Amino acid sequence: MLTIALPKGRIAEETLEIFAEIFGGEFKFEGRELIFERGGFRFLNVRNQDVPTYVEHGAADLGVVGLDVIVEKELDIIQLLDMRLGKCKVAIGIKNEDKLDWSRPQIKVATKMENITKNYFAQKAVGVEVVKLYGSIELAPLVGLADAIVDIVETGSTMKENGLKVAEDIMDSSAHLISNKNSFYAKKKEIFSLYEKIKEVVQRRGE
Ligand code: PRP
Repeated sequence: MLTIALPKGRIAEETLEIFAEIFGGEFKFEGRELIFERGGFRFLNVRNQDVPTYVEHGAADLGVVGLDVIVEKELDIIQLLDMRLGKCKVAIGIKNEDKLDWSRPQIKVATKMENITKNYFAQKAVGVEVVKLYGSIELAPLVGLADAIVDIVETGSTMKENGLKVAEDIMDSSAHLISNKNSFYAKKKEIFSLYEKIKEVVQRRGE
């Protein structure tokens, strides 16, 4: 049995569609259930940010999580496959009327992604004051909490509807299949066989 942690919402649904395509039948969380078993797999329905925790602790053998989360948390896991789902960018956002002024001694940035932000500004050799938020990041520059934000941009509509624009892209992200290190060795055959099947579907869909 392989246990797989999926991030609540669209990525979980799309991942389960891939399982349905491979194995046939219906793969779906019913109502508010957080766990279900089918075809030798056990699926966990968890918050996006919590997927790595389940995988790192070995409560799940595998997980599906955004590359941005993998990079942000510097996870001790094995990265198996880009699922090409949930494609987005991590970008710096500022108010439409502003310019990102790299000559300033310090820039105040609101974000959920403290490490990605600190590393990016360190590369540029610009001081950064990070204001850690948990959501609705786009609000921060509008009320003077920060000069800029570092956040996920998918369609761009959240920034647009709030009078913000992308100043710079930091990285591309998409959902990746990850494995717990011990599971990867202990359940190598099972994991590899699943990996091959998912890879085939992902490649076929990408063509
Ligand atoms: C994410 C992200 C942006 C928005 C980007 O927020 O933090 O706010 O989606 O998507 P868009 O470019 O398609 O508009 P989420 O919905 O996860 O909410 P939160 O940040 O408040 O947690």
